[in-house]
Amino acid sequence: MTTGMPVAEARAKRRLHVITWGCQMNVYDSARMQDVLAPLGYAPTERADDADMVILNTCHIRENASEKVFSELGRLRPLKQARPGVIFAVAGCVAQAEGQEIVARAPFVDIVMGPQTYHRLPEMVARAARAAGAVIDTEFPAESKFDHLPESAAPAISAFLTIQEGCDKFCSFCVVPYTRGAEASRPMEAVLAEARQLVAGGAREIVLLGQNVNAWHGDVGGLGRLVRKLAEIPDLLRIRYTTSHPRDMDEDLVAAHRDVPALVPFLHLPVQSGSDRVLAAMNRGHTADHYRRLVDRLREARPDLALSTDIIAGHPGETAADHQATLALIRDVGFAQAFSFKYSPRPGTPAAAATGQIPEVEKDRRLAEIQALLRDQQHAFNRACAGKSVKVLFTGPGRHPGQVAGRSPWLQPVHMTGPASLIGTETIVRIAEGHPNSLAAEPLHPAQDPQTEELACA
Ligand code: 5AD
Ligand code: SF4
Repeated sequence: MTTGMPVAEARAKRRLHVITWGCQMNVYDSARMQDVLAPLGYAPTERADDADMVILNTCHIRENASEKVFSELGRLRPLKQARPGVIFAVAGCVAQAEGQEIVARAPFVDIVMGPQTYHRLPEMVARAARAAGAVIDTEFPAESKFDHLPESAAPAISAFLTIQEGCDKFCSFCVVPYTRGAEASRPMEAVLAEARQLVAGGAREIVLLGQNVNAWHGDVGGLGRLVRKLAEIPDLLRIRYTTSHPRDMDEDLVAAHRDVPALVPFLHLPVQSGSDRVLAAMNRGHTADHYRRLVDRLREARPDLALSTDIIAGHPGETAADHQATLALIRDVGFAQAFSFKYSPRPGTPAAAATGQIPEVEKDRRLAEIQALLRDQQHAFNRACAGKSVKVLFTGPGRHPGQVAGRSPWLQPVHMTGPASLIGTETIVRIAEGHPNSLAAEPLHPAQDPQTEELACA
């Protein structure tokens, strides 16, 4: 390891506490920050109060996401007063968008860094130790952070792998193109090398991440081709990718859902609204019918495919009829899972300055209706799994002693009484019960032949 740190310093035992908000890309980034700091002697700790360094990896996507950061900083302030040597860093998209505001509102913060610069953390830590004020690094540097990352510590059985970052789509409501910058894809070979390394370390599922993951393009083809290459890695049992844009679902990727058994029959495909008027105002570049047809094509390719989506309630200009169109689309498609949000104006985005802002109470009312429908669909999907045999990838111990936990191919959390030896395996189990948010399973009776069982609840 070449960190340039003196040996004595490199060996010092230090504790690092990382708090992560937001999307899976932030979860990935937090893990990489831990990897980057490990050579300096930082080991993770669950507690903030005994930490030598605290990193808040933040999310700016909605207003309450950034407010949480400021309230957490307020909560942590006494720590800095008690132990001024503790290094405080704010990372991620709030840091990118509101660096100066953070320093003004929380002057005890030592490091402010955007999502593109955490490979420079060791250097920032050294500078913070010397500097009087905060070290701010919110550039979009020409060199890529991915080229400067050490090997990761033991990966999870289901491991994240960021293959693409940023977005050029500029949806009316979204801060991502401003905080994460322009769309950029990692080269195919770099992705394959990291994937092989994750699998060699014990990962059995890889979740490909990107703000616009299906916009990924290597030198020789798109995401469909990458998925096919990944599927050649022995011992890699499952491949997922998230988050997709309907406009980037090309023929080859749809075909990969038909051809690649390791590609799970589950897709998170945000639609945001079911009204063509609102979709146009959102600058989504597709209609509700385009989305419906795309879902049909995907289900044709992979009949057991289950879908998840994102919905926004109360985008500026959304009428009662537009809201009904969204409910109709949700009913037509039928989602196994979904995320729905009240529209939240983000400074600097076109929708924040648009006329026709919807009153809070009305947004709340529409969101509640959307969520009730989505909850019913999710529960119905889970209930439909009861009695079926399902392949579960067990990823760790369950909440209760003697239990193991994992995920179905459709991303449902599954728990079962069973031996720890199941962890890391994909095993066919019988679903005993479908709860609103998870499935309870039991081992398959030896007399039952899994080959004859229906391996689908979609
Ligand atoms: N208000 C509400 N929801 C938003 N999202 C993104 N920006 C906003 C906003 N300003 C939602 C979208 C996106 C998901 C990650 O967050 O549905 O797909
Ligand atoms: Fe944001 Fe996704 Fe739209 Fe890009 S495609 S601007 S990340 S909502």
